[in-house]
Amino acid sequence: MTLPYEKYLQEILIDSDTLQARIAELGAEISADYAERDRLMLICILKGGVMFLTDLMRHITIPHEIDFLAVSSYGRGGRTATGNVRIDMDLKETVTGKNLLIVEDIIDSGYTLRFVMDMLEARHPASIRLCTLLDKASRRVVKIEPDYTGFVIEDKFVFGYGLDLDEKYRNLPFIGVVRPEALLSE
Ligand code: IMP
Ligand code: MG
Repeated sequence: MTLPYEKYLQEILIDSDTLQARIAELGAEISADYAERDRLMLICILKGGVMFLTDLMRHITIPHEIDFLAVSSYGRGGRTATGNVRIDMDLKETVTGKNLLIVEDIIDSGYTLRFVMDMLEARHPASIRLCTLLDKASRRVVKIEPDYTGFVIEDKFVFGYGLDLDEKYRNLPFIGVVRPEALLSE
């Protein structure tokens, strides 16, 4: 039987076991780094960061809050970010005086994270760091240096594990590369 996602999948780039092993390492590293600080708050960037957040937080052994921020970039081209970023849903909690760790699925141009970090900075947290599962480092347009990176990947459009292909397939437990023909055919 062919599963619906299979017609879009060129190859599995990072399988589930590899993802989970790396996420456990990141959780341990974050737990050690924040052991002496209190008021840790994980900020998940919706929607793509949601799978990563829920797995990562299981490996963070120190007490922390979570909150969610939904942003989208708008303008030309559905799959290429522009400098125009908009908040679709703001945080519920205040961040003043807290140690913020942003949890993001992927950094591409960097526009989204630059906007988010500048916005949060203006609310006077104690600190801000950035944890991204994936980094397409070669695509960077604006300067953003993640503090924690799961995997640096090549410039290919990927989906699964929180990342969407036209809003679907975020549930897949692995990161897959989209067939180029699937992107062109729309
Ligand atoms: P940036 O603002 O260019 O860094 O774009 C970041 C956002 O673009 C991410 O949060 C994703 O939503 C989206 N994005 C970038 N590359 C991919 C990809 O390969 N697959 C799915 N979404 C992506
Ligand atoms: Mg997206």
